[in-house]
Amino acid sequence: MSLVFPRPNTNAVHGKKDKRLMAEVNASPLKHFVTAKKKINGIFEQLGAYVKESTSFLDDSYKNEELDPVTTEEQVLEVRGYLAKVAGIGEVLARRHMKVVFFGRTSNGKSSVINAMLCDKVLPSGIGHTTNCFLRVEGTDGNEAFLLTEGSEDRKSIKTVNQLAHALHQDEDLDAGSLVCVMWPKAKCALLRDDLVLVDSPGIDVTTELDSWIDKFCQDADVFVLVANSESTLMQTEKSFFHKVNERLSSPNIFILNNRWDASASEPEYMEEVRRQHMDRCSNFLVEELGVVDRAQASDRIFFVSAKEVLQARVQKAQGMPEAGGALAEGFQARMFEFQNFERRFEECISQSAVKTKFEQHTVRAKQISEALRRIMDSVHVAAQEQRIYCIETKEDRQDRLEFIDKQLDLLTMDCKAKIKKITEEVERQVSNAMSEEIRKLYVLVEDFHMDFHPSSVVLKVYKNELHRHVEEGLGSNMSGRCSTSITSALQATQTDMIDGLKPLLPPPSQRAGRQAGSPAVL
Ligand code: GTP
Ligand code: MG
Repeated sequence: MSLVFPRPNTNAVHGKKDKRLMAEVNASPLKHFVTAKKKINGIFEQLGAYVKESTSFLDDSYKNEELDPVTTEEQVLEVRGYLAKVAGIGEVLARRHMKVVFFGRTSNGKSSVINAMLCDKVLPSGIGHTTNCFLRVEGTDGNEAFLLTEGSEDRKSIKTVNQLAHALHQDEDLDAGSLVCVMWPKAKCALLRDDLVLVDSPGIDVTTELDSWIDKFCQDADVFVLVANSESTLMQTEKSFFHKVNERLSSPNIFILNNRWDASASEPEYMEEVRRQHMDRCSNFLVEELGVVDRAQASDRIFFVSAKEVLQARVQKAQGMPEAGGALAEGFQARMFEFQNFERRFEECISQSAVKTKFEQHTVRAKQISEALRRIMDSVHVAAQEQRIYCIETKEDRQDRLEFIDKQLDLLTMDCKAKIKKITEEVERQVSNAMSEEIRKLYVLVEDFHMDFHPSSVVLKVYKNELHRHVEEGLGSNMSGRCSTSITSALQATQTDMIDGLKPLLPPPSQRAGRQAGSPAVL
C-alpha cells in the first residue's frame, strides 16, 4: 500500500524493540492489532509456562512427606485447572483476526470496493457476476489461491477471477446464506498479511433472511461497511438492515462509502450540493438514528469514493503503468485520496476495536488467573515462612539446650573428679589407718600361728614361709574386714550421685524412663 502516515515522535521511544514496534505501527494501523496479538500470545505463553511451573512446584511441595505440606490439595487442583484454561485461551487467541463485512444493495459496488482494497481483481464483480453467497477473503501462506466451501475440507484451486466466478455459479448447493472462503496468498496482499478478513455479501435488497445473516456473519465482525450508491439516496432497505444490526450488536462500527462518486464529475455544478446532502443524511443516520457515533466523528465515517477507479488505478500501477492513465474522469486524484483516507480511518478503527473486543476479555482473564496464582503462591510463601521461623526457633532451642548440657557435663565431670579424688583420699586414709592398726596388732596374728619350731635350717625355712603366709592371709582378711564395707558403700554412693547428675541431661525418652523408674528429672 502506498499510504504515508505522519511519524510519531520517536524521541519518546526508547529501546530497539520499541523502535521496531513503532516501525510496524507506522507501516499500517492494522499492525496495532498484529502487535497486540503477538504480545497477548506471548503473555499467554509466559503465563502457561508459569502455571506449569507452579503446578509442578505445588505438586512437589504438597507431596513432601518430611515436612508439613505448605500447600493444600485444593490449591494444587485450582492451579492444575488453570493449565487447561490458559492453553485453551492461547489457542483461541492464535486464531483471532480482524473481520470487516461489506453490505449494500445489489450493484452498489461491494465486490469492487473489496477488490480495490486488495489491489487486485480477487472477487467477481459487474454484470453477470452478482455475488450470490457470502464470500470470505482470507490470507493463506501458500502461493496458490483456493476455495473452501462450508462443511467440506476440499480445496478447489482457482487461478483466475473467472474461474472463481465459474466455480461459484456451478455450485448448486450455494444459496445466499451460505459461505465460501476465498483463500488468497498473503504474499500478494498486505492487508491479508495483517490478519484482516474481508467478507462480501449478496445485496441486502435480494433477501428476506437478514436476521439469520446477522446471526451467522455479523456477531464477530469488528467493522461494517455500508457500500451505498452516491447516484441515489440512502435507501430504506439499507437503513433497516443497519437498524437490525444495531439492535443485535452493541455499538457497531459502521462506515458509509458513497460509491460511484466518479459519476458526480459529469455534473460538477451540483457536486458540492449533492455531497452536502449525502453527508447530512448519512450523518443523521449514524448519529441520530443509530447513535453509533458522535457528530464530530461522523465525517471520519462517511466517504465519497469510486471503487472502480481505485481498482483500475491500482491494477495498472501493479502492472507498471501510470495509475492515472486511461479514461479517468475529472477529480480522480481527490477521489483516490478520499479512498486512501477511508482505508486509513478504517484500519485505525478496526485494529483498535478488534484489540478491545477480541483481547480485552482475555487480558482480564489473564489478570484474574495471575492474581489467583499470586494469591496461592503468597499463601504458600507465608506457610513456608512460618515453617521456617518454627524451624529456626526449634534450632535455637536445641542449640541452647546443647550448650546447657555441655556446661552441665563440664560441671558434672568436675564434680565427679572431685568425688573420685575425695574417695581416693578416703580410701588411702582408711587403708593407712587400718594398716597402722593391724601392724600394731601384728602380735595377735603371730600369736595365732601354731607350728612346730625346730632350729634346723630346713624347718626354719618352711616355718618362715608358713608364718609369712599366715600373716599375709590374716592381714588381708583383716584389712578387707575393716575397709571393704565402707569403701564399697562410698563407691556406690558416688556412682549413684554420678548417674543422678547425668539423668536430667539425657534426651526425653530416657528422661521419661528415668522418671518412671522413680527418679525425678531436674531441668
Ligand atoms: P452484487 O454482488 O450484485 O450485489 O453487486 P456489487 O455490490 O458487488 O457490485 P459490483 O462490485 O459487482 O459492481 C457492480 C457494477 O458497478 C460493476 O460493473 C462495477 O464495475 C460497477 N462499479 C462499481 N464501483 C463503481 C464505481 O465506483 N463507479 C462506477 N462508475 N462503476 C462502479
Ligand atoms: Mg458483489
